[in-house]
Amino acid sequence: MILTVTPNPSLDRTYEVPALHRGEVIRATGERMDPGGKGVNVSRAVAAAGRRTVAVLPLGGAPGALVADLLHAQGIEVAPVPVTGATRSNIALAETDGILTKINAPGPELTAAERAHLLDAVRAQSRTADWIACCGSLPRGLAATWYADVVTRAHADGTRIALDTSGPALLEAVRARPDVVKPNAEELAQAVGRPLATIGDALDAAERLRALGARAVLASLGADGQLLVDDAGTWYGSAHVDTVRSNVGAGDASLAGFLIAGGNGPDALASAVAHGAAAVRLPGSVMPTPADLDPTAVTVTADVPVDRVLGEPAV
Ligand SMILES: Nc1ncnc2c1ncn2[C@@H]1O[C@H](COP(=O)(O)OP(=O)(O)OP(=O)(O)O)[C@@H](O)[C@H]1O
Ligand SMILES: [Mg+2]
Repeated sequence: MILTVTPNPSLDRTYEVPALHRGEVIRATGERMDPGGKGVNVSRAVAAAGRRTVAVLPLGGAPGALVADLLHAQGIEVAPVPVTGATRSNIALAETDGILTKINAPGPELTAAERAHLLDAVRAQSRTADWIACCGSLPRGLAATWYADVVTRAHADGTRIALDTSGPALLEAVRARPDVVKPNAEELAQAVGRPLATIGDALDAAERLRALGARAVLASLGADGQLLVDDAGTWYGSAHVDTVRSNVGAGDASLAGFLIAGGNGPDALASAVAHGAAAVRLPGSVMPTPADLDPTAVTVTADVPVDRVLGEPAV
């Protein structure tokens, strides 16, 4: 079982609109609702692979109840932590020309009691988990050290833990020695305070995160593929995609692919790359099923092309 923790989930409402015009009434031609949040995406990808997953998340108000309903409908077990504040609704405006404008709400502030319940819920579920995946930003009311506490508790219970977050929450958490962290290029550059121009720069930054405490680093570099750096070595994986439809959630699909395949070594990296490539071929944040994967398109090598220039340098 893969347990996911999404401290700041959302109800994602997408409106299809012809074009945006400030100050006018815009009539949507279509609308949809999805459960949102990075841990939620990882659970959706794990469920799409036919594996068991439990999503721990604070849920409040009518939007929170809708998020739970939408997750159940996708075969995802939910371990809700009831909170007084309403779960946030994030708005996406999808124009016909493919431009997406998003408005993300901050989400409710958790009380001291709710914070304690959230930690307890993670611990109660983690006993049967192969992995815990902690994903996304922290809501107001959770200290930057919150993920670090979850890592320490997971290790006390003998459970492995993966982390996909950014900024101070990432830097605090790596000190607690998480089993793997999955920054993208921008998050990696920010964490080390240096721009990344080449694969070699990304490798140096990943090594730096390991020096700070992360046991393994799975760095996702968009179209430039992924790097895995751990105690056993360094690998680079990539897969060419002809037609990119949406890169939203590709990193979450990658992390799910990595964990489903055991969560370490080159085979798990290959699975992460296959899931990332499949996710970008699918619309929106749709997560790939096994039928969407093309493992033959993935190459993994221990011979990291350090001099290769990144298509999108990270600052
Ligand atoms: N244009 C692309 N072509 C091929 N593969 C891609 C492309 N974009 C993303 N991928 C694959 O998906 C992986 C994850 O993408 P990315 O690094 O953009 O994640 P991310 O920024 O964490 O995404 P998110 O947080 O939205 O889930 C990449 O490492 C790569 O394997
Ligand atoms: Mg990401």
